[in-house]
Amino acid sequence: KRLFVIDTDAGLDDAQAIMMALAQPDINIIGITTVNGNTTVNNVSKNVLRLLKTCRRLDIPVYQGCDGPLMPHLDPVDAGHYHGVDGFGDVPDPDPVDPKMIKPEHSALALVRLANEHPGEINLVAIGPLTNIALALRLDSGFGSKLKHCFIMGGNTEGKGNIKICAEFNFCADPEAASIVLNLLGCPVTVAGWELCLKCGFTWEWYKRLISKGTAKSELMRVLEANTIVKFYKEGSSEFYITADQIIMSVAIDPKTVKAHEEVYATVALNDPLTRGMMVIDWSEHLQKKPNVKVVTEVDHDLYGKYLQDALN
Ligand code: BDR
Ligand code: CA
Repeated sequence: KRLFVIDTDAGLDDAQAIMMALAQPDINIIGITTVNGNTTVNNVSKNVLRLLKTCRRLDIPVYQGCDGPLMPHLDPVDAGHYHGVDGFGDVPDPDPVDPKMIKPEHSALALVRLANEHPGEINLVAIGPLTNIALALRLDSGFGSKLKHCFIMGGNTEGKGNIKICAEFNFCADPEAASIVLNLLGCPVTVAGWELCLKCGFTWEWYKRLISKGTAKSELMRVLEANTIVKFYKEGSSEFYITADQIIMSVAIDPKTVKAHEEVYATVALNDPLTRGMMVIDWSEHLQKKPNVKVVTEVDHDLYGKYLQDALN
């Protein structure tokens, strides 16, 4: 089986992305590490347990990680309007899992250990701010070289921000961590940025099929998203339901998801308040640096949609 570790700030799109991996019989998720992002790390861990309970997969170890970015924020980002303050639609769980199920080991330490236990085998799917992963790299500079591949949802390719003028949420939430990871990880890295998400929307009719399956998973997503993501896009008169973390998960599950990509050197703007957190891509090779990321520019939308629909069956 292929080994996956998922680093998440679940989050509603994270939840669906995790379900996508759970639905693949050839994938073994050997750990889920949580990080502050869409909500506090405590909430994220609770959300992951709730999701695993729904999927009857509480056997998967959950590790709790960083409760904030590497550097204190002057202007912290907030995703409450999109995911709910608790990150899961502000719909309390009537039968919550005992938080004691969370492993005592810190996410960053678990990442380092798992990479040592399975050198060259782990596909790390990073769908939150990159704090835990940057920290893992600082704990062990060889961490990245022990991974098989790192798949990241984050950054932007055309300077279109979803949380600041030109910065995407995950990178903006911890720009230093994003910079450390892009510049120092050293394993093959694939990135799906925010502009790709905007191109990969689904019609509301398609969305209705997704949340009307009558399964526990599709019911959970229907309830959690009704007053959050769905309201957000419908109130904005969006023709489409926009996804994010699910795209990079589809890429990690099946490379055939990628229809086009570019291999480029990418880094992160850190110093100017207007651009802080923006991914900066050297499209024209001005810096003459070795490419460090594969940026996905187009996906097979039907195939991607199929993985998403299958996940909630
Ligand atoms: C990213 O930000 C978060 O709100 C989502 O979960 C996703 O990881 C999209 O920019
Ligand atoms: Ca996320």
